[in-house]
Amino acid sequence: MRVLVVGNGGREHAIIQSLKKSKKIDALYAIAGNGGIANDAITVDMDVKNVQAVADWAEQNKIDFAVVAPDDPLVLGAVNLLNEKGIPCFGPSKEAAIIEGSKIFSKNLMKKYNIPTAEYETFSNMQDAFNYLDTKSAPIVVKADGLALGKGVIIANTIEEAKDAVKSMMEDKVFGASGANVVIEEFLTGPEVSVLSFTDGKTLVPMISSMDHKRALDFDQGLNTGGMGTVAPNPYYTEEIAKECMEKIFLPTMAAMNKEGRTFKGCLYFGLMLTPNGPKVIEYNCRFGDPETQVVLPLLESDLLEIMMAVAEERLDKVEVKFADKSACCVIMASEGYPASYKKGFEITFDTDRENVFVAGARLVDGKLLTNGGRVLGVTAIDETLKGAIDKAYEKVSKIHFENAYCRKDIGARALKAYGEQK
Ligand code: AMP
Ligand code: GLY
Repeated sequence: MRVLVVGNGGREHAIIQSLKKSKKIDALYAIAGNGGIANDAITVDMDVKNVQAVADWAEQNKIDFAVVAPDDPLVLGAVNLLNEKGIPCFGPSKEAAIIEGSKIFSKNLMKKYNIPTAEYETFSNMQDAFNYLDTKSAPIVVKADGLALGKGVIIANTIEEAKDAVKSMMEDKVFGASGANVVIEEFLTGPEVSVLSFTDGKTLVPMISSMDHKRALDFDQGLNTGGMGTVAPNPYYTEEIAKECMEKIFLPTMAAMNKEGRTFKGCLYFGLMLTPNGPKVIEYNCRFGDPETQVVLPLLESDLLEIMMAVAEERLDKVEVKFADKSACCVIMASEGYPASYKKGFEITFDTDRENVFVAGARLVDGKLLTNGGRVLGVTAIDETLKGAIDKAYEKVSKIHFENAYCRKDIGARALKAYGEQK
């Protein structure tokens, strides 16, 4: 089979390495890929947001199956266009991708179908938002309705800060059209858990749980980033909580999307907070998480292509989805200064093998791998224990070099502590 993966980050590198294990694949392509993905797939330089060009290319190149990984092309309807050309895909239609594309849609969905989430109101007028904030107390959370590169969420510690956030979104338009409408919601507390799931609209199979580390600096200080590291499984996500989430959140969400005529097929990501009042949805994503995928897929023992094809053909109940009974840790090596300003173009060298080293932002120039982004590499290790996985990941990080390399030193520390507390 000729398989195409759309996307160009560490998540896509992990998907591609997992797909490569499938015997069914004869040729593997990536649009646009990156300098690391080029080791594992044939990369095709193209803007992933130009979904028409992507679909045309897939048709011309006789692609048998496509995996659309990032939010933008999904929300823009890449899967609809590919399907119209008769190319089966893993990923939701744009009608279903709205679950991530519009926070107002997802909040209203949860309210309508009684799916636990933070209390909220939505606004299309700044003065109304200000009047509402005058009746509230901080901390309070302001979210831009649309996609905003993961930066559209502001946790305001004062009402003034919340008003500034509303103004920056609605009047100064820092997120463009994505901030024309905003959600203002209750601040929740508790450990966060990411649960990715496979669903074909009939069956939903959760993958192994994981924990992201979103802040740039150790001890959860600094700016919010796309994610500085992950571990799987997440120790807070006990079997009891998993059961509760399945009953109260996962299956009701799948059913709600069906009822709305927006059947979701692909990877549905649940960003959860385990609050004192039970698990609640912080956000849905219509895709694999990054860098959650970099710990989840290396633990997958079943054939990823088989699962993805079963999702597309609505026979997920017929395939095996099995994860290793082990732990994984992914440490992101970033360019110093990320997520603000940073330099790039430095050569990356390896005194170690590159197994489970996922390239997020690098390009190949004359055979040399040069840094080309804020997040450069995701270095994953697997072990019988979480402690072992963390130690191995950092050991590997110490053998990979580039000027201005930066990583958090405490990935997995909170999870380790949680295991200690449970014992
Ligand atoms: P997001 O960009 O939607 O992933 O949100 C970024 C982060 O903001 C989440 O991972 C949470 O840590 C935090 N967050 C979002 N919504 C809330 C909320 N209602 N209460 C507390 N923290 C939140
Ligand atoms: N790691 C969170 C996300 O992919 O949105």
